[in-house]
Amino acid sequence: MANQAPLLTKREGPVAWVSFNRPDALNAINDGIREQLPLILADLDRESEVRVIVLNSSQLRSFSVGADIKEAPRSTPELQTGRGVSKGSWIESIAEVSKPVIASIAGYCLGGGLEMALACDIRIASPDASFALPEINLGLLPGGGGTQRLPSVVGLGRALDMMLTGERLNATRAYDIGLITRLSSSAETLFEETRDFANMLAAKSSTAAKLLKQSTLRGMDLQLAEGLRLERDLFGRLRHSPDSAEAAAAFTEKRAAAFHGAAMAQQRQEN
Ligand code: CAA
Repeated sequence: MANQAPLLTKREGPVAWVSFNRPDALNAINDGIREQLPLILADLDRESEVRVIVLNSSQLRSFSVGADIKEAPRSTPELQTGRGVSKGSWIESIAEVSKPVIASIAGYCLGGGLEMALACDIRIASPDASFALPEINLGLLPGGGGTQRLPSVVGLGRALDMMLTGERLNATRAYDIGLITRLSSSAETLFEETRDFANMLAAKSSTAAKLLKQSTLRGMDLQLAEGLRLERDLFGRLRHSPDSAEAAAAFTEKRAAAFHGAAMAQQRQEN
């Protein structure tokens, strides 16, 4: 198993799947994942036919249990690589993708595994999924964006409770507090339900999706007035876009809109 690829990639029309593939270690994060994930995501972000990216696991027992505790600590957590990938924390490469990124979670989603999911735009989980930031039990703090992202997703009080206790939440609780926004009907149907959902997103305007991600995520770092200015600017760009014209025409003609690139990607998927 030593030479097994830690990440598998698969394309299904407009949807790209990136799957953690270290089943014996429950997808603990090793150097292979740290080094390859940013490169894979940057490539998929550049590929115009890919409209949505899904991060999941090759098996149902675990999305990821976080850092590989058995591995020797790295001298630097920073990613030192070229090919246009930023030199920030490697987990940031998920948040830097301009297209919608979905985390599809079955089983354990712990530590760095949850931090990767938090860097995604949408989290879908199966009823057997469980979530925790247990770094406190290792004498650490969540160092992959957890202390920054979790409070904005579930609120400050719940985030501090989770991080200070390291306690595990089941999927129902995670859904109730907004840590995940979608629950599949069962573990076995998670893949199919994620696929349907991803295809539904892929049929929408990719230009609008990209700019609304930019407005929302960049806006979080800005003062309200500045954020509103950014939103107005981006809205202005979309108002005169071909996708916006197509949506208006489709409404008038009482038909479904065929957004730029979506129909072509859909057709390729069907062939
Ligand atoms: N690193 C390396 N190996 C791990 C691992 C990890 N984080 N978690 C599990 N494994 C391995 C186990 O050692 C075991 O391997 P062997 O069969 O060779 O012994 C295999 O995966 C299966 O694990 P278990 O037998 O323990 O399975 P379980 O279902 O009984 O328990 C578990 C699963 C609750 C996840 C438990 O393994 C556990 O608590 N793991 C540690 C989780 C953790 O603390 N993660 C946080 C890491 S810190 C972090 O993520 C910070 C960061 O990135 C910045």
